[in-house]
Amino acid sequence: MKKSVRYILNGLTLPVFVVDPSRKISFMNKAARQRYSEATKGQFFNEVINSEKCLRALETVLDGEPNATADVTLQEVVPTSFRVSLSRLDADKEPLPSCVLSFEDVSHIQEAEQMRHDFVANVSHELRSPLTALTGFVETLQGAAANDSAVRERFLAMMAHEADRMARLIGDLLSLSKLQASERVAPTEPIDLFNILNSVSSSLSGLADQNNISLKLNFSNHIPIVIGDSDELTQVFQNLIENAIKYSTKGTEVCVSFFPQLEEKSHLCITVEDRGDGIEPTQIPRLTERFYRVDKGRSRNQGGTGLGLAIVKHILIRHRGWLKISSQVGKGSIFAVYLPVASF
Ligand SMILES: Nc1ncnc2c1ncn2[C@@H]1O[C@H](COP(=O)(O)OP(=O)(O)OP(=O)(O)O)[C@@H](O)[C@H]1O
Ligand SMILES: [Mg+2]
Repeated sequence: MKKSVRYILNGLTLPVFVVDPSRKISFMNKAARQRYSEATKGQFFNEVINSEKCLRALETVLDGEPNATADVTLQEVVPTSFRVSLSRLDADKEPLPSCVLSFEDVSHIQEAEQMRHDFVANVSHELRSPLTALTGFVETLQGAAANDSAVRERFLAMMAHEADRMARLIGDLLSLSKLQASERVAPTEPIDLFNILNSVSSSLSGLADQNNISLKLNFSNHIPIVIGDSDELTQVFQNLIENAIKYSTKGTEVCVSFFPQLEEKSHLCITVEDRGDGIEPTQIPRLTERFYRVDKGRSRNQGGTGLGLAIVKHILIRHRGWLKISSQVGKGSIFAVYLPVASF
């Protein structure tokens, strides 16, 4: 092989092999040598890549086909999916062709595809359950309960609850997709969190009373200004305080507090602390996943969609902040929001 061709192939990030008519490796580029450090020139190719599909494709090319592809999963340190592209190489003076194989790692594309698939399955499931309930109520109202006004009122209230849940789910999904689209652009408004925390707390005071929770506000109007988006930050604290109320034991306290970050002066911290059941340590990293709920039934009964904390996470990413969750089973949880302080 010419030096210039070897130079070009070594510059590629894809592993490339050339296999000669005797099925031995006659060339490996730099990426192939790094990835398959045990392999050597002159070794049989099937001793390095032990994949039925890839070897079959190699045979078709060595038998004269100009090109072939094979999608294979190789057991490397972790199972890795590759799209292997094979082309016939007719070298001068050689009576039989060789084959060039390049390995493109497509694991990330497959993971994204799997995530998309799971997401669609979750959305359909979440939309189907209120819809099934609604259809059931409609059928009952058209039939057995047509002339029973007490049943009709009860069913209509349940239908309104289900319809409300569907509307929230669609609203939350739209919020998430809008947020992801704008994640790279940081917000620019100066925000006074004192006002936001007060208005969110008063809008949730009714829910707190219903659940017999006393909502304590541990901050004064000395919270530094942050740069943000007021609707989005309202959504963050709305969800965290609502969660703390919903998932707490009746008769306990929920505390919203402000902490100036001592070591890292660039950020401030607002915590929402409850004395509820707490969350198992294994569940904590999963809470910000879309649709993840520790107790599905409990969350659904409260009208939850399981998207609240996913939205919180994306809003905080956009604000260049973060969420830290700590919890002790049987004692309660602390959801801490870190936000960068404005520097004027
Ligand atoms: N303070 C908390 N204490 C205990 N569990 C919590 C707390 N906050 C959240 N969780 C758990 O995390 C899950 C996900 O919360 P998230 O806010 O994302 O969804 P949701 O509250 O179920 O629905 P939505 O926010 O859409 O109303 C909840 O279902 C609940 O199981
Ligand atoms: Mg919530």
